[in-house]
Amino acid sequence: MSFIEFNNVRKDYQMGEVTIHALDGVSFDIEEGEFVIIAGASGAGKSTILNLLGGMDKATAGTIKVGDKIISDYTDNELTYYRRDDVGFVFQFYNLIQNLTVLENVELACQISKNPLDIEETLDAVGLSERKSNFPSQISGGEQQRVAIARAIAKNPRLLLCDEPTGALDYQTGKQVLQVLQNICKKEKTTVIVITHNLALTPIGDKIIRVRSGKIDSITLNEHPQSAQEIEY
Ligand SMILES: Nc1ncnc2c1ncn2[C@@H]1O[C@H](COP(=O)(O)OP(=O)(O)OP(=O)(O)O)[C@@H](O)[C@H]1O
Ligand SMILES: [Mg+2]
Repeated sequence: MSFIEFNNVRKDYQMGEVTIHALDGVSFDIEEGEFVIIAGASGAGKSTILNLLGGMDKATAGTIKVGDKIISDYTDNELTYYRRDDVGFVFQFYNLIQNLTVLENVELACQISKNPLDIEETLDAVGLSERKSNFPSQISGGEQQRVAIARAIAKNPRLLLCDEPTGALDYQTGKQVLQVLQNICKKEKTTVIVITHNLALTPIGDKIIRVRSGKIDSITLNEHPQSAQEIEY
């Protein structure tokens, strides 16, 4: 049994008369502690997969298992607890609270957590201990994204879901952010899933899931994944 099992998952969106098959029978497994890249063109269904995994949306059919939980059977209330306790989210735009400092942004996330990590250590892990009294507007985009990562991991989630985390960042800063995600994955044994439309990022994943038109195109394993700082894209 794998940590995550997506089994023949379908997701339809009804748009008036038209049914959009966002996911059309998607199956894959992810092991605990794996660094997974989900790649595919715009509209392929990447965010739909992540939203289902994060308990932000419900599948039309199929089963989704995370750990010992069958989240596809969950009620809205159960999904709320699942999102809060088990999942960290990082998005393209950092969604920090502008009138709270770096430290306070991370503290806020810890307050709702059962088993938070040490905040100072978490800020250290993303290289931001020197900037903890700054407000988001006083730091760069890459630093803001690292705060968002610190906020997501400080609650010590089993699963870290990242939707285009480098989408708004320049090349060098993007690499630093990916390196931070890779380090967390290895050090904390957190399962990390990163969505990208950039195929050049695939060498850094332990597993690459390619999605095309709502279906799985291929699933490959890298025996020797490269570190984010090493790759050129
Ligand atoms: N709330 C929604 N209502 C209707 N259709 C939707 C909705 N969300 C997604 N879709 C459709 O489902 C399909 C998959 O969308 P999804 O957002 O998963 O793609 P994506 O791979 O993340 O693309 P991108 O790289 O552009 O973010 C697309 O055709 C999209 O238009
Ligand atoms: Mg998307």
